[in-house]
Amino acid sequence: MTITSPVIAIDGPSGSGKGTIARRVADALGYHLLDSGALYRLTAIAAENRGIRLDDAAAVAETARGLDVRFDSHEDGSERIWLSGKDVTGEVRKESTGAGASTVAAHPAVREALLERQRAFQRVPGLVADGRDMGTHVFTSAALKIFLTASAEERAKRRYKQLKDKGLDVSLAALSRDIDDRDRRDSERSVAPLKPASDARILDSSGLSIEAVTETVLEWVAEL
Ligand code: DC
Repeated sequence: MTITSPVIAIDGPSGSGKGTIARRVADALGYHLLDSGALYRLTAIAAENRGIRLDDAAAVAETARGLDVRFDSHEDGSERIWLSGKDVTGEVRKESTGAGASTVAAHPAVREALLERQRAFQRVPGLVADGRDMGTHVFTSAALKIFLTASAEERAKRRYKQLKDKGLDVSLAALSRDIDDRDRRDSERSVAPLKPASDARILDSSGLSIEAVTETVLEWVAEL
């Protein structure tokens, strides 16, 4: 890390609000953004497109190494994600893609295959990196490490609202079960399990507005 391109690592479980907070903080600071979960999601989609089973670690890792992705951000704040020239923006966010991502993310070879690609996002003037292991593995010397969390109940409710707003028909009970399952898979895997870095600051967003959480993160950045 150079002093001119600091990394702000924001890790935490599904539905903790990491994605939203990371984007807001990146916008406020004029920093680049790495949505590392999207890379695992894209790996799952690419593997499925190639007819590769998600438990075939070697073949999935090779797919991860060869990912042809492009993230396009637009002035209006919208973003499009392209995989091998195809717009997969909608598919990336699907619950089924998230489950596939969690499966491929458990393979050490896949994590290794995506390591340099993630580190390449570190550019001036700085980077906000959102994921599960940004502070513990990918950017161990990040200037600021935050572990953003929220109660499982609140996370399920947030995800429910997001999906409902998109017009999707979902059940809160099924979402709670999915979140519990995913938390367990992500925290119990042997490689890079979901846990705060020893030097991370913990931020519990339960009951806090997006604005309040963003403000806290920006205050911590200002203290650097
Ligand atoms: O943050 P997300 O929901 O887009 O992540 C999808 C899955 O990818 C999640 O189940 C865990 C995995 N993941 C990971 O293992 N490491 C990361 N840095 C980011 C995501």
